[in-house]
Amino acid sequence: MMSALMRNTVGAIVRGAGARVPRAGVRALTSTAAVRSDALFVHRDTPDNNAEIKFSFNEASMAKAEEIVARYPPQYKKAAVIPLLDLAQRQNNNFTSLSAMNYVAEFLEMPPMRVYEVATFYTMFNRTPVGKYFVQLCTTTPCMLGGCGSDKIVKAVLDHLKIGLGETTSDGLFTVIEVECLGACSNAPMVQINDDYYEDLTPETIVDVLSALARGEKPKAGPQNGRLTSAPHPTERTLTATPYGPGEHCVPEFA
Ligand code: FES
Repeated sequence: MMSALMRNTVGAIVRGAGARVPRAGVRALTSTAAVRSDALFVHRDTPDNNAEIKFSFNEASMAKAEEIVARYPPQYKKAAVIPLLDLAQRQNNNFTSLSAMNYVAEFLEMPPMRVYEVATFYTMFNRTPVGKYFVQLCTTTPCMLGGCGSDKIVKAVLDHLKIGLGETTSDGLFTVIEVECLGACSNAPMVQINDDYYEDLTPETIVDVLSALARGEKPKAGPQNGRLTSAPHPTERTLTATPYGPGEHCVPEFA
């Protein structure tokens, strides 16, 4: 065991054969582990994502794509790349595959690399397959602090689905990820599931939402505590007395 220990010149003991031993008078530099994104920026062929898998717009998507492209002058039709990628992802079970990106590039007569650049920049494009219900848990500060707090929502979701963040349930129904602010902070804590927002959540109401989806039902989107959009809660109001008038409670010179 002692052979694995190295004694440095200032008397400190550094454990591990690979550890660096700082010289006397030289400040040791340390670094934290590299933080990696949850998505690769490069493509790696997999059985469910490679150029051999065919993709093309179905009739409904084609009609929509032609309508979108017609909004732009012909020489600028590549400006439709984002809505067309979105269209392709929706048709492809919420997954922007390599074939879908290549198809959009061909459709818009633009280099595939330009399409890859867009798809890798915007996190709305899922470049790996996801479950039928794509659950995006907001954990930014207002959601973390608002209501019961997003920590409890995250725990309730993961405990209920028995998966970790970034994972998909074995039945392929749910994929859960953690995201930054989704712009509904006044109704914190909230989650986005596919195109719908579920807001003013508690651990109980988010489990009710997930259970309803698993049963094939469509739970009502929006606030889950009975309030109307982001209007004041029916009972928990801040203005419970008649507001005081102008000048009241001011120092005399401002009254
Ligand atoms: S912080 Fe969650 S929606 Fe803004």
